[in-house]
Amino acid sequence: MNEYETEHEQEKQDREQAESVFICTANRDFAAYAQEELRRLFGSVKSSVLSDREVLLVKLNETEEAAARKIADSRPIFLRHIQPVQFEREGENAGELLGEAAAFVLGAGRIGAGVKAALQVRKSADAGGESAPQLKEWLEELLRASEAEFVSAGADWIVSVYLTASGIYAGISRPEDNLSDWSGGAVRFRREEGQLSRAKFKLLEAEREFGLDLSAYRAAVDIGAAPGGWTSLLLERGLKVTAVDPAKLHPSLLKLPNLTYIRKNAGEVKFRDNEFDLLVCDMSWSPKLMVQLVTGLLHALAPGGTAIVTIKLMHKKPMALIKEVIASFEDSRLQVQRAKQLFHNREEITLYMIKY
Ligand SMILES: C[S@@+](CC[C@H](N)C(=O)[O-])C[C@H]1O[C@@H](n2cnc3c(N)ncnc32)[C@H](O)[C@@H]1O
Repeated sequence: MNEYETEHEQEKQDREQAESVFICTANRDFAAYAQEELRRLFGSVKSSVLSDREVLLVKLNETEEAAARKIADSRPIFLRHIQPVQFEREGENAGELLGEAAAFVLGAGRIGAGVKAALQVRKSADAGGESAPQLKEWLEELLRASEAEFVSAGADWIVSVYLTASGIYAGISRPEDNLSDWSGGAVRFRREEGQLSRAKFKLLEAEREFGLDLSAYRAAVDIGAAPGGWTSLLLERGLKVTAVDPAKLHPSLLKLPNLTYIRKNAGEVKFRDNEFDLLVCDMSWSPKLMVQLVTGLLHALAPGGTAIVTIKLMHKKPMALIKEVIASFEDSRLQVQRAKQLFHNREEITLYMIKY
């Protein structure tokens, strides 16, 4: 081997040693866009679908630590959750596979007395047998010998296990390296009695994901407010809310003192300059028209104010559409802080912006 070949061989070996494997999750039907995000970050990406157009097994030519950092720093829109695969075993007997995964976890030495560990167990759609919660109970039993404290939030380490019809994947990681500390990034809120719409979860999740404190705002305008999930959350947070929608708001809201309801199309309303410090819009409508309506009302949002807006993805290529919408908002003095497909977003994403 000459000098060049030796160096080349060494590079190849380094690359092989550095290769890391992750299970990556996006919302249903959006895995292809998560894959595109990974491709933009890492160049070529080897991946296969584990479940229903939402869960991918991805091999990267970087160390696990470097890859997880790079992914987190890139703030992906569609990639919702990652979990490292440090142990992989083929087989069909869930009990045996789980036992082997548990032995790997115990042997890795990361969880032990005084350590808070979260166990997150998922399975692919084609894996039959026990439910994921049952498998989690088994795993907890198998890991009891570690003497770790098992928690659902505030963990030091997350033990992630993914079971398919033909094998098991397991990994141990820090919560901040998984993009989301919820199992598979599936953020669950308890449905309240009398909750007006499922849409309320979107704003709750946006508040959490973007690190906002909605109660810190004074006055909000909610464009496309009916039936009133977002408006009700803003009222609960103590804001004065102006709700705009030609459709009916739920009657339970109408007598609340901090609510002004304008039963009109958003194109017909007039506001004073800087009247609001928060503008939210969940119109579920053509993105182009939504941008027109929102930018037409932006004079009413004070400089430094926040806008939270959902973009309906329609049939157009999502990446190009998002770029177009962001460019239009940035031309209108809205600085995009985050763009994210939240777990509670269906065929849409959510933008968090600040007016300057
Ligand atoms: C998905 S719903 C909003 C749900 C709401 N965020 C909630 O939490 O209950 C969309 C709403 O946008 C309203 N909408 C559509 N076009 C509008 C327009 N031009 N002006 C005002 N509202 C509009 C619809 O009437 C509909 O009630």
